[in-house]
Amino acid sequence: MERSLTLELVRVTEAAALTSARWMGLGRKDEADDAATTAMRKEFENIPMDGVVVIGEGEMDEAPMLYIGERLGQGVPPYVDVAVDPLEGTNIVAKGTWNAISVIAIADRGNLLHAPDMYMQKIAVGPKAVGKIDINAAVADNLKAVAQAVGKDISDLVAIVLDRDRHQKLVDEIRQAGARIKLIPDGDVAAAINTAFPDTGVDILFGTGGAPEGVLAAVALKCLGGEIQGKLLPQSDDELERCKRMGLSNPHQVLYMDDLVKGDDAIFAATGVTDGELLRGVRFQGMRATTHSVVMRAKTGTVRFITGNHRLERKPRLVL
Ligand code: FBP
Repeated sequence: MERSLTLELVRVTEAAALTSARWMGLGRKDEADDAATTAMRKEFENIPMDGVVVIGEGEMDEAPMLYIGERLGQGVPPYVDVAVDPLEGTNIVAKGTWNAISVIAIADRGNLLHAPDMYMQKIAVGPKAVGKIDINAAVADNLKAVAQAVGKDISDLVAIVLDRDRHQKLVDEIRQAGARIKLIPDGDVAAAINTAFPDTGVDILFGTGGAPEGVLAAVALKCLGGEIQGKLLPQSDDELERCKRMGLSNPHQVLYMDDLVKGDDAIFAATGVTDGELLRGVRFQGMRATTHSVVMRAKTGTVRFITGNHRLERKPRLVL
């Protein structure tokens, strides 16, 4: 893949963030999502690549744009798989709370898991704890191993978990093991990424969230040298069938980094929509706006934080 694509992709997440951030706190998550999706789709037309959406806004018959199988880009090499979440955290934007981001991940064609839209159990850590976690092990054992790897007491660790009823047993087990917990309302892509940045104060992600979000997080963690493991959790015969169609004869098999994203190259870009530990949200002042993005590449391990100062009068299609 051309390295210049890294910066090109940031333009796309910036556009999605700029449009959806206008909906912050307005209680209208669908409008925020539509705005992000439309802006992202439009901006992809300018990207020199031949992409196929493998993780997007849904199947062709349910999503008008960025649907699974849609071709993106100018139709020139490189040939890539594209995973998008124009607005990761639709409720977050509706309420104006923390960690909504616009996200893209790409990898060479065939290298991203075509994760179906179902739940996935996940565990994720940053570089120091790679190789120390096991999704099948007890929560306490994982915490002990991570504590040792990062050189902290278990009581100093912070585990991040989506605040859901289904996680009550998990939360009890983390508490019994003695670690601290950050319960978040939404946004487990940002949560997984935060485990790779010690300054965010997050050491490990546990719990069940969307499978597509698991693949997006895997690309980011591959770039950052971290690790995520996942297990699909089909909830119906139909979901079970979809796992089998993907070639997963045992849908509960552990998906490791190389199952989620193959190869040694991939690019991940995200722009903050609302404020988060890692990325600031969009700021508007009249016809000016500021965005804060991160873009990274697995092959080189380069991580760039980019502040964009935008003149909205010169980008009329971004003015709502
Ligand atoms: P949306 O952006 O689609 O609203 O997803 C937000 C999210 O919190 C993800 O980060 C997470 O993986 C998933 O929803 C969890 O699903 P659920 O809300 O059903 O528990």
